[in-house]
Amino acid sequence: MTTSNRPFPPDFLFGAATAAFQIEGATHEDGRRDSIWDAFCREPGAVFGGDNGDVACDHYHRYRDDVALMKRLGLQTYRFSVSWARVRPDGGARNAKGIDFYKRLVDELRAADILPWLTLYHWDLPQALQERGGWTVRETAERFTEYALDVHDALGDRVNVWTTLNEPWCASFLSYTGGEHAPGHTSIEEGLLASHHLLLAHGSTVQALRARDASLDLGITLNHTVADPADPGNPGDVDAARRVDGQFNRWFLDPIHRASYPADIVEDIRAVDAAAVASFEAAILDGDLATIAQPIDTQGVNYYHGDLVSGTAPEHPPVSGGPATTRPGRSPYPSHAGIHAVERGLPRTSQNWEVQPEGLTRLLRRLSDEYTRAKGVRLVVTENGAAFDDVVAADGVHDQERVAYVQAHLGAVLDAVDAGVDVGGYFYWSLMDNFEWAWGYDKRFGIVRVDYDTQERTPKDSALEYARIIAGRTLGA
Ligand code: NOJ
Repeated sequence: MTTSNRPFPPDFLFGAATAAFQIEGATHEDGRRDSIWDAFCREPGAVFGGDNGDVACDHYHRYRDDVALMKRLGLQTYRFSVSWARVRPDGGARNAKGIDFYKRLVDELRAADILPWLTLYHWDLPQALQERGGWTVRETAERFTEYALDVHDALGDRVNVWTTLNEPWCASFLSYTGGEHAPGHTSIEEGLLASHHLLLAHGSTVQALRARDASLDLGITLNHTVADPADPGNPGDVDAARRVDGQFNRWFLDPIHRASYPADIVEDIRAVDAAAVASFEAAILDGDLATIAQPIDTQGVNYYHGDLVSGTAPEHPPVSGGPATTRPGRSPYPSHAGIHAVERGLPRTSQNWEVQPEGLTRLLRRLSDEYTRAKGVRLVVTENGAAFDDVVAADGVHDQERVAYVQAHLGAVLDAVDAGVDVGGYFYWSLMDNFEWAWGYDKRFGIVRVDYDTQERTPKDSALEYARIIAGRTLGA
């Protein structure tokens, strides 16, 4: 990989991403009611430091200044999510005041010539729907499409790019099986059911939005890893990598692009919990997989790190990357017993996530070769970023590690472009420090620092470097 003077393709979009619950605050204003994350934050030990989303970055009140800041940084596009709990506070009736916030936000973005990139679900399910079973029941998928059409009624004339779901792996297995995310359940069956109903919600909503307006750009964002066997010659390690890849990547890619769940992983999970798999299979009704496999225009790719894995416990295991919360959990990977993470000496972020930019190149190439190119689906990196312990000085926030992270990952994207992959853009996660789920406000991902006492925003060195790259549309110049 060369790192200097590499131009980006002329239509490549540069942006930054956020999500409603992580930045908005105002959790009970203008008719909004509890989402599952409001409820989860109240559970002892669920979120580090007992943090919650009540104020967050106060973006609900400061969105105009935040858009002005995006403009100053030269962002071409902004990826945000709509809070279902604002639009349909109890999951049913529409709340005009809640929708109005997004009209104001989108108008502000358009006035600043920043392309709005709208995500319909970034994990804040109305608590009222969770009380009826949440994503474990089919009804939630139906309610989701109705909610999406409400949002389209309000914003269809001014938003062109629509993402149905953000990271359904987190919204299903991490939330209903691993217990680390809301609603904090630890059931293999629930995780499986949630994954299917989320995917069904995606497919039905793509169908419904497409019927409304064939010119919309529709897609979904998945989170990925690149799983490598510690020893490619060791069958146990190769099998561990297959299982990680299967549960994390193929479980969602295959139904969306091939109308089937990966048979090897279904059998792996059946071996652990046959009753859970039977219940999951019974929930897949005729036609569901065809619905899930609706044609899409854009596949969003979230990439943070890879995984080096083994079927044998290593002598020196890496430090666990999990949040320091105290609720009981379990592995979010039903068939992961006997899989071990292996240290390979790469730099790590403050969450102990590996920094492995080369994995992003391989991931984009693989997605293109195996899933998207033949169908003319464009890939867009909808999230990539890192939490580090920033150095705050009188003359600025010096986050040299994040500067290097952004440069390296943009270089990895260009490597994929050079290899012929259609990559339409890159969103840094996140525009600003925010509520990092079970880690609370302890981990900072922003290129803009947020002082949570004063709500002051300070662009970090990484923001200045990103702005410079965007202005020159060149890496390393
Ligand atoms: C993925 C999620 O979409 C986002 O909400 C989260 O903050 C980042 N990854 C960092 O963990």
